[in-house]
Amino acid sequence: MSSEYPIISWKELIKHFKRSSLWVVIEGMVYDVTTYLDKHPGGEEILRKCGAKDATEQFLEYNHSNYARSILASRIVGQLTDEPPPHNYAQLLKQRKQRIKNPYKQITWEELEFHNTSDDAWIVIDDDVYDVTDFMAEHPGGMKLLLDQAGDDASKFFHRINHSQYAHQIMNDLQVGMIVGIKPKKKEKQAPTNYVLIMFIIIVLFIFIYLFLF
Ligand code: HEM
Ligand code: HEM
Repeated sequence: MSSEYPIISWKELIKHFKRSSLWVVIEGMVYDVTTYLDKHPGGEEILRKCGAKDATEQFLEYNHSNYARSILASRIVGQLTDEPPPHNYAQLLKQRKQRIKNPYKQITWEELEFHNTSDDAWIVIDDDVYDVTDFMAEHPGGMKLLLDQAGDDASKFFHRINHSQYAHQIMNDLQVGMIVGIKPKKKEKQAPTNYVLIMFIIIVLFIFIYLFLF
């Protein structure tokens, strides 16, 4: 596939179904319509439903004018890959949408701990749980900072930076629930080296005392 535009994979497309970043596919091209949503004469809702999907049929169905096409031209992100979508793409997209539809879902600390990898990363900030899996790579503060906190409470680190209103807007879209229960105490790490050192000092002391007395 050779194209003058970046090739957009299905894995990339599926991330952009939210109000803060909404892409649609029309005739094989991917368009970012995030800032057009509230200007669309056909309404915002109808466009949001097409987020991260192929909307060619719907677009053609409403017999859009050349003017509508010219709006699209300025919003090209790239060309959709010619690989077929994953067989469960629609289901995966639905699951993602459902997750952010229920920001008040109760999540336990035990459940949170499972979401601690780059493929599945949740963090807690002020008792709210955020799925940062897709956002990590775009985080202006770097991916590593978020990945290090995956599966854990990141409130302390988050508040060290005066995150902007824009950051909080992004967070609205990432929230997947609220944390409940008491955070389990982390097991104290064993310090075998210290233990061995103390034993060594005691033995040396005994030897000195023994040599001194006898
Ligand atoms: C994604 C890019 C889209 C752009 C840039 C766009 C743009 C426009 C524009 C400029 C109009 C005014 C009429 C015209 O000039 O054609 C319009 C009307 C409309 N659009 Fe879209 N549209 C898009 C996608 C869609 C999709 C995917 C749907 C359906 C799911 C849709 C549904 C409608 C409807 C129903 C109207 C008619 C509104 C009315 O006359 O009351 N549009 N759109
Ligand atoms: C879902 C949670 C988060 C979102 C949506 C987010 C978003 C952002 C955004 C948009 C910025 C750019 C500056 C701004 O607009 O405020 C930023 C900067 C930054 N973030 Fe986050 N952030 C999140 C969590 C965190 C966490 C947990 C940490 C620390 C562990 C962190 C550390 C930083 C740092 C250090 C910067 C500054 C980068 C710089 O100015 O060079 N962020 N973040």
